[in-house]
Amino acid sequence: MALTACIGCGNVGRAWAVVFARAGHDVVLHDADPAQVAAALPLIRVTLDQLDRAGQLHGDTDSVLARIRPAASIADAVSGATHVQESVREDLEIKRAVMSEIGAHAPADCIIASSTSALRGSTFLEHVARPGRALVAHPVNPPSLIPLVELCGSSLTDAATLARTHNFMTALGMKPVTLRREIDGFLLNRLQYTLVAEAMHLVGEGYCSAEDIDRVMTDGLALRWLSIGPFATANLNATAGFAGFVSQLGPMMRRMGEDARTDYAWGDDLAQRIHADMAARVPVANIPAWQAWRDGRILAARKAQAEGQAEQPG
Ligand SMILES: NC(=O)c1ccc[n+]([C@@H]2O[C@H](COP(=O)([O-])OP(=O)(O)OC[C@H]3O[C@@H](n4cnc5c(N)ncnc54)[C@H](O)[C@@H]3O)[C@@H](O)[C@H]2O)c1
Repeated sequence: MALTACIGCGNVGRAWAVVFARAGHDVVLHDADPAQVAAALPLIRVTLDQLDRAGQLHGDTDSVLARIRPAASIADAVSGATHVQESVREDLEIKRAVMSEIGAHAPADCIIASSTSALRGSTFLEHVARPGRALVAHPVNPPSLIPLVELCGSSLTDAATLARTHNFMTALGMKPVTLRREIDGFLLNRLQYTLVAEAMHLVGEGYCSAEDIDRVMTDGLALRWLSIGPFATANLNATAGFAGFVSQLGPMMRRMGEDARTDYAWGDDLAQRIHADMAARVPVANIPAWQAWRDGRILAARKAQAEGQAEQPG
């Protein structure tokens, strides 16, 4: 089993610790703020119990937790590691300094991965000694529940590093997608925030309410998208497959793309209006209870996905 190090123990670092430990790996946690490390273990226990209740934990919570230990410094955490996952604050200067320190102390053949959401690897991975072993492995929060991870190298990343990380992530039960070249926001956030930008336009210009947008997703698009993506949806929506769909509806697809107001200049007034709508549905004080409910629904949805995949026709 591998020795993995999680540098940064906030929301994302803690969830990565769950991913590594539940797969049987030893995990070392480090954070610049010792209080974060102290807070991490009880929170990790909550996640493990939740996975256990959903039947998605091999082994019991205590034996998985026993594989996780804190380290007082980056040097201690990464010495002997085969995979380091950096999840510190999204700040370029902090990433550069932390990645450089990790690179100085990690074994030569250790993979060094960053969880960055929106920084291009080429802006900070070169600060790692032997940058061929460094890449971005961008999770969806929290990776303990959502399996997609976007792998993206810089121009200095070795192809073998991407291949090895792809295999490692797959063995962990994650679902990696490797980008062929760098682009801001990788794939998921580009798609997500393109859709959200148009939703802001539709609400901001009075076509519908924020609740209507949420319902269009949960009562409509998401029911398809739980099992098949947008290209597969088009492929199945025409008897002649994707080409048949495009021959009929291609002009509409283009027109919607041209009309979409992804450049819509929404301001604080619209953000406050949506906040008030949301708070009427989910009072801010109830957010933790709703987060726990949402996490349970994600686990239930994954179970439905797995059952659906097993029933796919040839
Ligand atoms: N939250 C998300 O939805 C999400 C999703 C995917 C990726 N990410 C990325 O993951 C990373 C972490 O995000 P998060 O949401 O966990 O943030 P967070 O604020 O919850 O945690 C960041 C942690 O980094 C620690 N830290 C700061 N400087 C440090 C240093 N020099 N050395 C060690 N630890 C240090 C902080 O003490 C804190 O515990 C960011 O790069 C973020 O963009 C976040």
